[in-house]
Amino acid sequence: MIDKARDLAADALFLDLEDACAPAAKAEGRKTIAAALNEGGFGTKTRTVRVNDWTTPWTYADVIEVVGNAGDNLDCLMLPKTRGATDVAALDLLLTQVEKSEGLEVGRIGLEIQIETSQGLLALESIATASPRIETIVFGPADFMASIQMKTLVVGEQPPGYDVGDAYHHILMSILMVARANELQAIDGPYLAIKDLDGLRRVAQRSAALGFDGKWALHPGQIEALNEIYSPRQHDYDHAENILDAYTWHTSQAGGHRGAAMLGEEMIDEASRKMALVVSAKGRAAGMSRTDVWQAPA
Ligand code: GLV
Ligand code: MG
Repeated sequence: MIDKARDLAADALFLDLEDACAPAAKAEGRKTIAAALNEGGFGTKTRTVRVNDWTTPWTYADVIEVVGNAGDNLDCLMLPKTRGATDVAALDLLLTQVEKSEGLEVGRIGLEIQIETSQGLLALESIATASPRIETIVFGPADFMASIQMKTLVVGEQPPGYDVGDAYHHILMSILMVARANELQAIDGPYLAIKDLDGLRRVAQRSAALGFDGKWALHPGQIEALNEIYSPRQHDYDHAENILDAYTWHTSQAGGHRGAAMLGEEMIDEASRKMALVVSAKGRAAGMSRTDVWQAPA
């Protein structure tokens, strides 16, 4: 799996010491992960290791062994089941000490924080500012559903009997608000039915529409759909770039220094520019190119 992961078209990759690694395999897993990171070959992917949460006996050894043996070849640690700011502070302190003792650059390794309990969601504002290392907030739907005792076993889907909205809306929106307020990435978690691509699309589209930056893939077969869903649609990308060009021209001397102007049937102004910047940035990050380019009046 690790060998295959090196060439996949994902932006980021995490190697798991937590729930996908059996208790008896944790010690061996640390060695396998450190060796794989040191072997390299992951291209430009962000390389993350998920350590165990602080209620287990394993977190400290995960950090000491993985960062101690492969700290130069690792970008982030992911902390699951984050309960509050002290969980983050503890990881930051331990990481700092390992960096110092190993002669690594202090503070380079970032943190991805998983929110997957009611406690974590309620403490999210203080969690998000608990360490300057935090780069990303990740929703963990499976553990979260267990934590709030949601009456279903199908991760990410609406619980049977709930037919009046999206049972995840409050959770997703809360994570997104705190992520944006602190300039962090917001990432949606796994969809377990790996062969059900229609289901994956249905669930992914919800968080993508709200503004999430991406979603976990558990299997290579999920990557293409997710890359498409979290990128803008071609029409929207073209439109965003055209708004930026048209607004630049209309506000210039050639355009008569107009703050509000028409683009086709639509009025655009400074707020349109800000919305367009979001879509344009997502499209550029996904490597999209323009297919329909606005031309200034001759
Ligand atoms: C991921 O860790 C999840 O619990 O969904
Ligand atoms: Mg989990």
